[in-house]
Amino acid sequence: MIISSANDYRKAAKAKLPPFLFHYIDGGSYNEQTLRRNCEDLATIALKQRVLKDMSTVTLDTELFGESFSLPIALSPVGLTGMYSKRGEVHAALAAQNKGIPFTMSTVSVCPIEEVAPKLQRPMWFQLYVLKDRGFMKNVLERAIDAGVSTLVFTVDMPVPGARYRDLHSGMSGPNAAMRRVFQAMRHPDWAFNVGLMGKPHDLGNISTYRGKPTKLEDYIGWLGENFDPSICWKDLEWIRDFWPGPMVIKGILDKQDAKDAVSFGADGIVVSNHGGRQLDGVLSSAKALPYIAEAVKGDVKIFVDSGIRSGLDVVRMLALGADCTMLGRSYIYALAAQGQAGVEHLLDLYEKEMRVAMTLTGANHINQLSHDCLMQI
Ligand code: FNR
Ligand code: LAC
Repeated sequence: MIISSANDYRKAAKAKLPPFLFHYIDGGSYNEQTLRRNCEDLATIALKQRVLKDMSTVTLDTELFGESFSLPIALSPVGLTGMYSKRGEVHAALAAQNKGIPFTMSTVSVCPIEEVAPKLQRPMWFQLYVLKDRGFMKNVLERAIDAGVSTLVFTVDMPVPGARYRDLHSGMSGPNAAMRRVFQAMRHPDWAFNVGLMGKPHDLGNISTYRGKPTKLEDYIGWLGENFDPSICWKDLEWIRDFWPGPMVIKGILDKQDAKDAVSFGADGIVVSNHGGRQLDGVLSSAKALPYIAEAVKGDVKIFVDSGIRSGLDVVRMLALGADCTMLGRSYIYALAAQGQAGVEHLLDLYEKEMRVAMTLTGANHINQLSHDCLMQI
């Protein structure tokens, strides 16, 4: 299969993965309206073409929290990455490092912090949810500090898990799920051998290390449902702010008052995100929410954005709408599932090339020059 774009990686991932995993990645919540809007709304943002402006140098690098980024991109946290590719978190992190951008490990990764961090020279980022078990939260934060994690990404848009109807149909959950997954694996022998067999242990690595016993995939959905804490409010985050020595980024902001509250709380960054359309279906796309949030807090806090980004053009659009940096979820996961670390590195090369073309033809020599002036309509 010829791969020339992130969308091609999606097709390649679909062919390679057993359906329960492909649909877990690909799907959203309820009727998936927000999932679709994330991409559709971005596509309607028209770039303004400018010509004859000496675009012999176009630079994409930036610096955030004292770390250098070769591109204004970071990898978003994605649960179960080690199920999509053998020891997936290790290879995604190495790809990010080789391309000069940060990798964010999910709380619910397969590989634990202790497996990934020692393989890297660049500090990793770590994502945490608000969980009922505060003992686990403290334990994992201490382990992250010991492992040299630089930035904490705190996800706040999952006080309860969104209903993912596709998961019931695909065998991720629902009746006879375990048996259906075995049949699916048999029909995907490449995945079954390389990931299903050679990629073991299939564990929630960070949680098992804390509990001292394996936390298997069968426990995953149950663990999520039981452990998210709907009582959470800003006050509960204060001890983490005090405890965590590095930058803290609040992920899952869609409203400008919440963005202002994050600034008052003392966050170093926010991620404008609807969790890739996986939580409350019907909320605004990130592209639609971002300009209001940027208007309210730009300069007071670093603004990251994810949800729906599928090309370097989308990265340019998000920066022009007010983001300081973008984050990728599904697009790098599809590349990882299809071709491992090499796939993620290739995908990031594609993003870079697409960004260079878009910036050359919008007359922006540096990402700092991307603003509403580079757009025809917002
Ligand atoms: C996610 N996301 C996510 N976010 C988070 O904070 N912790 C997590 O463990 C996960 N897990 C997860 C699993 C899968 C399979 C997906 C697709 C997403 C959300 C993720 O970080 C990001 O916000 C979205 O993926 C961004 O949208 P796009 O780029 O996928 O459209
Ligand atoms: C998800 C969780 C793990 O989106 O964040 O599936």
